[in-house]
Amino acid sequence: MRLAVLKERRAAETRVAATPETVKKLLGLGLTAVVVETGAGLASGIPDEAYREAGAEIAPDAAAALAGAGILLKVRAPTEEELPQIPRGALLIGTLGADEAAARAYAERGIDAAAMELLPRITRAQSMDVLSSQANLAGYRAVIEAAAAYDKAFPMMITAAGTIPAASVFVMGAGVAGLQAIATARRLGARVSATDVRPAAKEEIKSLGATFVGHEDEESRAAQTAGGYARQMSAEFLRKQAEVVAGHIAKQDIVITTALVQGRTAPKLVSEEMVASMKPGSVIVDIAADAGGNVALTKPGELVVTANGVKILGYTNWPGRIPAAASALYARNLLTFLSTFWDKEAKAPRLPEEDEIVRGVMLARGGQVVHPQFAPAKAA
Ligand code: NAI
Repeated sequence: MRLAVLKERRAAETRVAATPETVKKLLGLGLTAVVVETGAGLASGIPDEAYREAGAEIAPDAAAALAGAGILLKVRAPTEEELPQIPRGALLIGTLGADEAAARAYAERGIDAAAMELLPRITRAQSMDVLSSQANLAGYRAVIEAAAAYDKAFPMMITAAGTIPAASVFVMGAGVAGLQAIATARRLGARVSATDVRPAAKEEIKSLGATFVGHEDEESRAAQTAGGYARQMSAEFLRKQAEVVAGHIAKQDIVITTALVQGRTAPKLVSEEMVASMKPGSVIVDIAADAGGNVALTKPGELVVTANGVKILGYTNWPGRIPAAASALYARNLLTFLSTFWDKEAKAPRLPEEDEIVRGVMLARGGQVVHPQFAPAKAA
């Protein structure tokens, strides 16, 4: 069986779905060939030659890479041009940004599609969890870019010329990205506080040496879904939360927002008034910009400088801003998924329908939409 790796064509996508390290291991599974489209790794600092040395074949274009492929590894969903070139019966694995229309399109084309962003948050799936590996790096990168955009220092500095106080950093949303942001800001010497709505997050914030700031009530005590995600909070809760954090934000040098609610646009947590209350030179980094942003003034994909001199970094695709590390971890996540569901004798993937992970990620297989979210009648 041949496995293809394409160059990502979506705007500003710098990552790649396999690295020389994973190519070697993929070949070790018994694939007949791993075919990498030329230039696929360049934006992540991986030249064709490195893939070749690992045993891959280099194809001159996407069509050549896909010819005869039984498996296709991607970072993002295939484009409209790529889709018709994927052989019928191939297994596509990537963060496919799944929706009903896409699931139907894969089914109609006979592509078995695994949307890795739908992976269940269970212990057995942790090493395949692309959302976690990428969010972790996004949280780190957000702090690094905040530090670069901030025109003072993060740590307290006692010098012969006098003392510079430590920066105050407030992290909103303490999931995977937020916890890494807290840890990174602490390592840089900042004074860190954080908020979240899930009760478990409060202890995690404190265990990283940050202080918790937020509103808690009956609603927040039930804010975590069985899947580990936050619920959509009521307007009333968000109002009370805003009251608590408003005064706090006015005193911050850096605010990093990471709050997401699965399958919805990001909750708006920082209002125009809150931004206006901040000191000139303060920096807001909105990692939730891909989902619309947590900050009222965020322009997804852009740097905004407000009238009162606050910088809002609302860039999208934060993991793509640290591409070599993001690709390395993403590629390992996909390798682990494939190795877990690999039939050594057949030298091909074997995806048992009843497996919780398989059920979680498969959008389409055998020409049918199979995901319960997109094929409710069948699931029932
Ligand atoms: P996420 O990316 O969906 O959301 C980020 C954070 O925003 C979450 O902590 C969420 O509670 C918070 N949030 C949502 N609405 C908010 C609001 N109004 N105000 C403040 N914060 C708000 O979450 P992520 O990072 O994917 O993690 C979700 C959970 O899954 C965590 O409990 C994490 O520990 C768990 N997890 C479990 C894994 C496993 O067992 N395999 C793997 C990864 C994460």
